[in-house]
Amino acid sequence: MQNATKMGLNCTGAQMSPLDSEEQLKASQEVPPDIPGNEKKLALVRKEKAAEADAIGSVPIPGTAKGMVKTALNKLVGVSPEMLIDKLGERLAFERSGVRLYEALLAKAGALDSMDAGMLKTLQHFRDEEAEHFALVVAAMQRLGADPTAMTPCADVVGVTSMGVLQAISDPRTNLAQSLNALLTAELTDNAGWELLIELAEASNQTEIAQSFEKALAQEQVHLTTVRSWLAEAVLDQV
Ligand SMILES: [Fe+2]
Repeated sequence: MQNATKMGLNCTGAQMSPLDSEEQLKASQEVPPDIPGNEKKLALVRKEKAAEADAIGSVPIPGTAKGMVKTALNKLVGVSPEMLIDKLGERLAFERSGVRLYEALLAKAGALDSMDAGMLKTLQHFRDEEAEHFALVVAAMQRLGADPTAMTPCADVVGVTSMGVLQAISDPRTNLAQSLNALLTAELTDNAGWELLIELAEASNQTEIAQSFEKALAQEQVHLTTVRSWLAEAVLDQV
């Protein structure tokens, strides 16, 4: 695999064939689209569909007696646990994806000359921390009597959102800089996700859970600064 970005026979741009491009431009003005509709109609249909659609899922009712009691107690003191459980489910899904992202990059690392032993060790360390964060969220959910194996609505959404990142890193053709760029997308979201989750746990009167997440946030901040600096190095080295 090539790690450096090189010039080659790329024919995707209009400059590669000025005459054909001119013809294409002319045709786009002369031939109207054969599919009816326009962006206003599209927006209208989207609005209609959004108004009539069901929710993407629901937070499961606790399956254990302990969970039911806790939910009932929370409701009694005016705290709805649904949002916290939903967001815990989201973090759980995200951290699981995080492990897979680092594993995909580690697998690719063998083909990359630019990855030294120190970088590989750090990558492995970050992968292990993502797995620890996953276990941390599982413990928090169990503490609340929630089911960590259930797919919550936010977990579903974040799984769909993360698909592109995983695809970019596991594509065998992407080089180090491209893979790190995709990983940065995940780490930026991950940091914001932990910050919000800690705030939410505090707002839900789950101080101990909030405190248990502080270490994970600190580790995620290191992931972010490290990936950001690796990316800058990988890009700037090529100039
Ligand atoms: Fe991370």
